[in-house]
Amino acid sequence: MDAKQFCSCTDTKCPCHPVNHDRGCAPCVQKNLRQKEIPSCFFHDIDYEKPTKNWHYEDFAALVDAAGLNSHMPMDAMTAILTRRSTRQMRPDVPERELICKVIEAGRYAPSGSNSQSTHFLVITKPDVLDSLAVLVRKAFARMEIGEDAYISLRHSVAASRKGDYVFHYNAPVLIVTANKKGYGNAIADSACALQNMMLAAHAQGLGSCWINQLHWLDEESTIRSFLEPLGLGTDETITGGLILGYRQNSEPAKPLSRTGNPVTWIEE
Ligand SMILES: Cc1cc2nc3c(=O)[nH]c(=O)nc-3n(C[C@H](O)[C@H](O)[C@H](O)COP(=O)(O)O)c2cc1C
Repeated sequence: MDAKQFCSCTDTKCPCHPVNHDRGCAPCVQKNLRQKEIPSCFFHDIDYEKPTKNWHYEDFAALVDAAGLNSHMPMDAMTAILTRRSTRQMRPDVPERELICKVIEAGRYAPSGSNSQSTHFLVITKPDVLDSLAVLVRKAFARMEIGEDAYISLRHSVAASRKGDYVFHYNAPVLIVTANKKGYGNAIADSACALQNMMLAAHAQGLGSCWINQLHWLDEESTIRSFLEPLGLGTDETITGGLILGYRQNSEPAKPLSRTGNPVTWIEE
């Protein structure tokens, strides 16, 4: 059924209303599930079982699933690309495992040089591990010697760590660390493809994400390696990047940044 017919909500100014986009009921459903609420349309006159009990938001989700309105990736590829933003303020709750698995699947399905498929994904949701990593990263940056011409983000990480209040993963509930084989020439490129796939899949499912590079910079730091290797990082692997994942604190992502850089040169007849 078309979501525009299914929806009986009269608030057509709401950005989640199906008349304002092509993503059906998904944005509204996701917003309501996040807030654990039942949208008003559930109680309107629709061709489904009328409410006869104390309904819970899970009942609403089941009804939408039964109507086949939420079973697909709720965003087309170009919309996901154009509207994705880096999210650094996330709710503390870990998203449903099914959503995280889809994000990882998107990363695993990224292309790789010579079809190497050697990107390794370490998915960390354990709060103790995330906290310990944040402390190790802060200590490592605090003792790092860098010049004034160092990369601006690195300078920021070092300065904030010396102040003592630096949490490189912004207290997000999920951190996915990517690693690849040491000495493999496409290690970073393959992981970048995987990370971008994951950011888009996260966004398409209503999750926020942000590339997090600090563990890559600290790849050779012994305190980091001796913490991550027992957790699964291979001794023959280099840390290529990372991604935080979670529900955004704000229900909608920030507006896309305009592109004033990234020049394009056409060479044609
Ligand atoms: C290679 C790469 C490394 C990045 N590293 C970090 C990082 O360590 N921490 C962070 O907060 N954001 C990081 N970002 C996110 C960028 O700051 C962000 O993409 C940029 O400001 C544009 O904003 P947008 O993603 O919302 O369009 C990184 C992005 C890329 C592509």
